[in-house]
Amino acid sequence: MHPEQIELNGHRFRRFLTRQQIAAIVERLAQQLRADYAGITPVCLIVLKGAFVFAADLLRAAGIPCRVETVRARSYGTAMHSSGRVEIQPPELPLAGADVLLIEDIVDSGLTLRELLGFLRRQQPASLRIVALLAKPSARELQPQPDYIGLEIPPLFVVGYGMDYAEHGRYLPDIYALEEPEQGNPARERTSFAVVDPSRTAE
Ligand code: PRP
Repeated sequence: MHPEQIELNGHRFRRFLTRQQIAAIVERLAQQLRADYAGITPVCLIVLKGAFVFAADLLRAAGIPCRVETVRARSYGTAMHSSGRVEIQPPELPLAGADVLLIEDIVDSGLTLRELLGFLRRQQPASLRIVALLAKPSARELQPQPDYIGLEIPPLFVVGYGMDYAEHGRYLPDIYALEEPEQGNPARERTSFAVVDPSRTAE
């Protein structure tokens, strides 16, 4: 069992979602996908690196016959906030005419999603949907909205379950949030820690 509190790269993080809560969210999303993709063989496009753990669990839980492809999108580098520039390494598989399901770990500012959608639309897929494990409040203003959101979370900096801080913490099975920043902490823009109501994960 991993601890309630951890330190990563000099910052303290507290457990925010347990692996059981994450599994319940993933199962609910998988059920929705099974219903919506009955008879369709989508191309599941995993946004690297952060979504690799979520996608592995989601695709196995959903059990939908699909093709799997990856796209690399990177904007955070080693920082806790977006650089404002998204680097995209395109997928190899042609997406023209495909039913594309984009799999994201988290939608924060929405910049990555906006850039990816622009890129993907130019490939002229037959359909394009987005599933995100987590979304922050700023994602509500996005057009279009992700089609499937596992959980809306407060504006916290989170790591684990594929998500990193400067490449640390991706391996963690639980999701951790940065603790209330102290004065002088470079992560000052992050707000205080909030506990998620676990009942929301068991719909
Ligand atoms: C993270 C995350 C999302 C994106 C969300 O990727 O995995 O893709 O940021 O942030 P946004 O909505 O503010 O654009 P990151 O750039 O950290 O790359 P990584 O997945 O390789 O960690």
